[in-house]
Amino acid sequence: MTAQQPLAVGLIGAGRMGSFHAETLAHRLPGVRLAAIADPAPGAAQRLGDRLGCATTYTDIGELLTAPHLDGVVIATPARTHAGLVEAAAKAGKAVYCEKPMAVTLAEADRAIAAAADAGVPLQVGFNRRYDPGFRAAHEKIAAGAISTPQLLRSLTRDPELADPARIPPWTIFLETLIHDFDVLGHLNPGAEPVEVSAMADALVRPDFKDRGLLDTAVVTIRFDNGALATAEASFQAVYGYDVRAEVLGSTGMLTMGDIRRTHLTAYGPDGVTAECVTYDQHLFHDAYVAELADFTDSVRTGRTPSATGEDARAALSIALAAIESVTSGGPVRVGKPRDL
Ligand SMILES: NC(=O)c1ccc[n+]([C@@H]2O[C@H](COP(=O)([O-])OP(=O)(O)OC[C@H]3O[C@@H](n4cnc5c(N)ncnc54)[C@H](O)[C@@H]3O)[C@@H](O)[C@H]2O)c1
Repeated sequence: MTAQQPLAVGLIGAGRMGSFHAETLAHRLPGVRLAAIADPAPGAAQRLGDRLGCATTYTDIGELLTAPHLDGVVIATPARTHAGLVEAAAKAGKAVYCEKPMAVTLAEADRAIAAAADAGVPLQVGFNRRYDPGFRAAHEKIAAGAISTPQLLRSLTRDPELADPARIPPWTIFLETLIHDFDVLGHLNPGAEPVEVSAMADALVRPDFKDRGLLDTAVVTIRFDNGALATAEASFQAVYGYDVRAEVLGSTGMLTMGDIRRTHLTAYGPDGVTAECVTYDQHLFHDAYVAELADFTDSVRTGRTPSATGEDARAALSIALAAIESVTSGGPVRVGKPRDL
């Protein structure tokens, strides 16, 4: 890469999220080029490449990882493949952006972080809420002392629909959904460390899948070392839309963020007041998803640390693992050294 040449980034995983990131790399970021795509599903990488004008496609991920012309890679494969791919990409000298969760055990999180540090490459994780204007402004205000000491925090995620319960691996609600909320709660309580976690979870949307390990509804409470108390909750089915919100009550004020309204239109009629809801993550977080890759590519160019790191991923994972342990044991779990899965 020189000052004149665009940054060459490869994509691994040409599914729903990977396709959005590929479009961002191909069209939405000046000075960035979608230079290769890899996906083991026959034809997946090539179809996406054809659509976006990327001629270099692979079904063998290893070929992309060793391709010499790439400055960085974006990983958007299923969760349990992430840590190994981060490690392999870093060892191949590539800067890494990885979708959340970066890892599902602390041991593999540590290996991924160490691989990036040893290779001297940036490692960014897909905690897109940090890049949403409301969440970003809240973090900046809290860090600047605008509401003094955070005392009570909450974060929630509700997906609109549980389409295919058979495809959801065990503990997904903690490892893949609430992982965002755990990150948000730490980000909105800067400098504080979680010390105790309790969790309850059940299959309320699809009770018929509970005996196959599905948990689709969960509430988690977290105590932080600055005294703040927090709740995170998630549901895989909120019939009205894709609902992501957070709130922080501090000793001198309160901040709320997240808005499910799709537009600023509010319709008033004989039956009452209505507004259209967001029903899709790529609508709610369109700009945040673009901003996180802008941050990543800027980090690759400048060498600065990205705004959501491997350590941040590990911190959120440690809460997720404690929540899982709490559901299993039925009691509160001290955070610090939670048991790996
Ligand atoms: N940040 C967010 O808000 C957000 C939203 C959606 C998805 N995600 C994350 O993005 C990732 C992908 O989710 P998705 O919804 O795009 O899934 P998806 O199933 O649509 O796509 C996954 C792709 O990975 C490929 N793949 C399967 N096994 C692979 C392997 N072993 N190695 C490499 N590629 C493999 C599949 O062929 C598929 O094309 C997940 O980690 C998910 O948590 C994040």
